[in-house]
Amino acid sequence: MVILMDDHMVHRGHGVFDTAAIKKGHLYELHQHVDRIIRSGTVAKIVLPFDRETIRRILIQTVSVSKCMNGSLRYWMSAGPGDFQLSPSGCHQPALYAIVIEDQSLFDSRGIKVVTSSIPIKPPQFATMKSVNYLPNVLSKMEAEEQVAFAAIWLDDDGFIAEGSNMNVAFVTKEQELLMPKFDKILSGCPARRVLTLAEGLVRVGKLRGIRVDNVCIDEGKSADEMMLLGSGVLVRPVIQWDEKVKGDGKEGPISKTLLNYILEDMNSGLSSVRVPVRY
Ligand SMILES: Cc1ncc(COP(=O)(O)O)c(C=O)c1O
Repeated sequence: MVILMDDHMVHRGHGVFDTAAIKKGHLYELHQHVDRIIRSGTVAKIVLPFDRETIRRILIQTVSVSKCMNGSLRYWMSAGPGDFQLSPSGCHQPALYAIVIEDQSLFDSRGIKVVTSSIPIKPPQFATMKSVNYLPNVLSKMEAEEQVAFAAIWLDDDGFIAEGSNMNVAFVTKEQELLMPKFDKILSGCPARRVLTLAEGLVRVGKLRGIRVDNVCIDEGKSADEMMLLGSGVLVRPVIQWDEKVKGDGKEGPISKTLLNYILEDMNSGLSSVRVPVRY
């Protein structure tokens, strides 16, 4: 694939993207991911290169011709090639780019360490969309790696727990509630939203007392029985240490492990509303 240097996404960061997982020849939550790139594109004032149905069809066809059965589909919408100016008025053809990344590895369920990010979080207008401006995310991931941690956690401008560098977070409180930060200042993660639905099964069998989406203060997060990262790249990943604070007995929490199994099951054999078959 060739992307021109004068594409507004390349030299001005005027592009949006999204990623959907490919599992056993199915695209997981494709509708949700397509809706999200269209929302991001609207905020970024990028004219849709095609209508929604055509975008969806092109994405499925791209996976089909790649013959990839397991991996991920990543796609971008850009204002397109132009004249190297700040204004996109010289960009006459918005573009859709898509690539398929093969990945046969199994999801890792080992507990990881996270640190608090010192890199400022993006303001809500930009944090709630998925633009290609990921410099803060890259720097916060590098900051984590420098401290031998997996991810860095952002606090929002009111000091509440926000999200990780490319994932959402959730907690199991002392009262056995699943607690997730509100989505008004962060990215509305597809696996995070799906976990909120799947966790209702744990409430029904009495393993959770309830599910709450709310502001989460740092003390509540650090003292929670369990913490987990949620995202397309990690699915559900138990956190066993945040900064110096080790969670519980330092072992992966049971609710995090069960939620990982639920989401894996959902990807492998869930409802047709979350699994779109690819015809190869
Ligand atoms: C900042 C941020 N938060 C949350 C997420 C999780 O979202 P999803 O897994 O739906 O892509 C991502 C994913 O890249 C992200 O970049």
